Amino acid sequence: MNALNTDTLQTAWRFAAERHRDQEYPGTGLPYLMHLGAVCLELYPALAAAPERDAVLALTCAILHDTVEDTGLTSGELAGLFGEAVAQGVAALSKNPDLHGAEGMGDSLKRIREQPPEVWMVKMADRCANLGKPPAHWNTEKCRSYADEGETILEALGAASPLLTARLAERVRIWRQFAAQAADGQV
Ligand code: NI
Repeated sequence: MNALNTDTLQTAWRFAAERHRDQEYPGTGLPYLMHLGAVCLELYPALAAAPERDAVLALTCAILHDTVEDTGLTSGELAGLFGEAVAQGVAALSKNPDLHGAEGMGDSLKRIREQPPEVWMVKMADRCANLGKPPAHWNTEKCRSYADEGETILEALGAASPLLTARLAERVRIWRQFAAQAADGQV
């Protein structure tokens, strides 16, 4: 892992805390920062295993990845604060609000693939973090389709990190098991 610019990361973390101040991570009752930290924790071992990757770019994009989609920040404002590379990474990680389902995912993955591999890694880490414990209100079908999306992400972005590929594949496998058990009425 290259030398971390800790000041940049601390500035981004505080900024994210302010932007997401009133938001909870859905279904948990916990502050949104919980999710941002979880994505960074998924990234950490993958970055440690890949010293050629720009860890500051990856972690800054991870910390800020929902500021445009969820807090109304513009890409221009983000570029002014954290630079063009971060703004472009976050823009690629933000959904086009006019597209839904498979079309939205396809568009998102296409834009991420035009970015450096560090941005691919953030998307994989984000999905790993989101494939933690299934929210209590999710039904079998929703769990299965979320696992399917995880597989689509793996196919599109897996080349950026063997470690995150293994991790995401394992999370998808566990979610498929969960969905199958739920369908059988075992949970
Ligand atoms: Ni996320």
